[in-house]
Amino acid sequence: MDNNNVLLIVEDDPGLQKQLKWCFENYQTVIASDQNEAIAAIRRYNPGVVTLDLGLPPDPANASAGLATLDEILSIAPATKVIVVTGNDDRENAVRAVAMGAYDFYQKPIDIDVLRMIIDRACHLNQLEQEYIKLQQKTQEPLAGIIASSRKMQELSRVVEKTAPTSASILLLGESGTGKEILAKAIHGLSSRADQPFIAINCAAIPENLLESELFGYEKGAFTGAVTQTKGKIEYADKGTFLLDEIGDLPFSLQAKLLRFLQERTIERIGGRKEIPVDVRIICATHQNLQALIDEGRFRSDLYYRISEISINIPPLREREGDAITIATALLNRYSQLNGKKLKGFSKEAVHAIESYPWPGNIRELENKVKRAVIMADGPAVTLEDLEMEQDSDNLIPLNLREVRETAETTAIKRALTYANNNISNAAKLLGVTRPTLYTLFDKYDIQINE
Ligand SMILES: Nc1ncnc2c1ncn2[C@@H]1O[C@H](COP(=O)(O)OP(=O)(O)OP(=O)(O)O)[C@@H](O)[C@H]1O
Ligand SMILES: [Mg+2]
Repeated sequence: MDNNNVLLIVEDDPGLQKQLKWCFENYQTVIASDQNEAIAAIRRYNPGVVTLDLGLPPDPANASAGLATLDEILSIAPATKVIVVTGNDDRENAVRAVAMGAYDFYQKPIDIDVLRMIIDRACHLNQLEQEYIKLQQKTQEPLAGIIASSRKMQELSRVVEKTAPTSASILLLGESGTGKEILAKAIHGLSSRADQPFIAINCAAIPENLLESELFGYEKGAFTGAVTQTKGKIEYADKGTFLLDEIGDLPFSLQAKLLRFLQERTIERIGGRKEIPVDVRIICATHQNLQALIDEGRFRSDLYYRISEISINIPPLREREGDAITIATALLNRYSQLNGKKLKGFSKEAVHAIESYPWPGNIRELENKVKRAVIMADGPAVTLEDLEMEQDSDNLIPLNLREVRETAETTAIKRALTYANNNISNAAKLLGVTRPTLYTLFDKYDIQINE
């Protein structure tokens, strides 16, 4: 539901309920009389703006039911703009409510014009925020399910968007865990075959003798145990997309058979004589170097050319500048929501560690670490310990420019001193500064030398 125009009025006085409903006809108003109704309405309508009477039952003289409602609303829907409405003499609780995260407060008796202005402004702000979030998500999720902010991945997304709607066979190359399978699904989703099946088979996970029947199917009686006619995975993918994962592990004997299928676009089930036409888009993926396999005579070059009409190299995570922390943050939000935890991102040390770690297992490794950390985290932010990571002080690059400069200068001075065998004049020359300047720097950085 479009939440932008929904105004939830939490008010126990029936007279006021009616009056407010009537005054705010330009909104889709929803009325709630107590905490339970209010929370149910939040979940159901996801309103952009809420007016909340702090003097709710059970005890109208006591604002705690109102404050509890506020707390619950903000924990379910933190983006909602809540305007608390208080009695004349209840300024203290109004201030407390704003401190808890309410957008604004308003004191009874109600002056409709003023209240309207506050509500309109809150609604406008909420709309702007929602648009901003949408825009942000767009830039962070260039393809469905794929989070990325690095230039490399943005470029890759453009290639995928261009090639996905064609019928070209695509070869996805990338280290383990870089997102080959998720990218294959995104390609399928962007093609005209999107509402047809997407079938994947992992050539490395299935024993050679079973792989052929998995791919092509078999007729009844084709071999011992073939008690019924069985379709192969390729046939199941008819009209859709077929992913041959770990194609580098496809046994040599089956490579010829697959090539024949790619040329003829028909299959023959094992033990069958009929040629069955199948219309599938082929995507292949591997972490192996196919060229090296060809050189070793383990992969057919004619098959390679067939499957790689378009070949896409997925860069490892360590080469995607900024992606590790972008993906980690998105996954943190996803898993903390799933686990019902309110986590406020990563600690400073954790961010440094995520940025400097080389991630040999790529996104899969990052995903596993964040999943675990969300479960383990006790504090408001995820720490190094939650992630089971260590501070990498060598690669620690602070954000603060002064810190960067100081670290760089200290390192350079120490190196120059080593080169110059602690001779200050020579070290100054190497550094391109005068002797007095170098002495000042020694003081500044507290560098001791034994001349
Ligand atoms: N850019 C991304 N944004 C969000 N999640 C991602 C991204 N890339 C990969 N993932 C997630 O990381 C995990 C590994 O991705 P995927 O299985 O596609 O990798 P792969 O290259 O096929 O790995 P392998 O070689 O181990 O089979 C999956 O759970 C996937 O959803
Ligand atoms: Mg895979």
